[in-house]
Amino acid sequence: MTALQNLQRQLAYIIPGARLEETVLPGCPEICLHLLNADYPQEALAASTVQRVMDNPLYWAFCWASGQVLAAHLLRHPERVADRRVLDFGCGSGVVSIAAALAGAREVIACDNDAFALAMTERNAALNGVQVQLAPDFDALAGPVELITAADVLYDRENLPWLERFPRRADAVLVADSRLKSFDHPAYSEIARQVSVTVPDLDESSEFREVRVYLSH
Ligand SMILES: C[S@@+](CC[C@H](N)C(=O)[O-])C[C@H]1O[C@@H](n2cnc3c(N)ncnc32)[C@H](O)[C@@H]1O
Repeated sequence: MTALQNLQRQLAYIIPGARLEETVLPGCPEICLHLLNADYPQEALAASTVQRVMDNPLYWAFCWASGQVLAAHLLRHPERVADRRVLDFGCGSGVVSIAAALAGAREVIACDNDAFALAMTERNAALNGVQVQLAPDFDALAGPVELITAADVLYDRENLPWLERFPRRADAVLVADSRLKSFDHPAYSEIARQVSVTVPDLDESSEFREVRVYLSH
């Protein structure tokens, strides 16, 4: 079984009838990703399906609004990544990692604590003709890192301490987020703001569509 078939099987196990389909990102058309199909089953899910979704979060089968905005930002500002060693924390589908590679990063390391996210990132990188390294453990990574990117990882409040750790590990940090109502961290400044959407569309409220990009200083 290929890696893509394995991802497909996991998806269909969690949500019967769901499948992966190649999707050009509406807000970043330079990138095409294998994502959950746009017409995924949306009728009331059986309790057993809801439980499987909770036990196996499908972050890797979506391109989150913040990821889409940060990927487009990197492609518009390749000077942020050009010739740099970039670590993409919480890579999910791989969208930001792929954008960094397309924008000319010297090396891209995609980091996630979900093995399915790493496998999805590897397949999506191949789909876009770029190479990324995979890292399941941030702390095990050796060598200097020039830029850390992190898109939509602050939905989990337990990840807030990473905002302190990132600037100690890399020369610069770019964070994209639409989950925190107030982001007032002394190490970061807002540099961009854009309305976007998660792909496929989860019909989230407008507050989760307004993405802010922050740069460390
Ligand atoms: C909402 S998804 C965002 C994915 C992608 N960055 C995007 O914007 O589309 C969050 C991802 O971060 C990963 N993640 C969350 N907390 C993490 C942690 N402490 N260490 C590594 N990965 C983490 C999750 O497994 C998931 O793949």
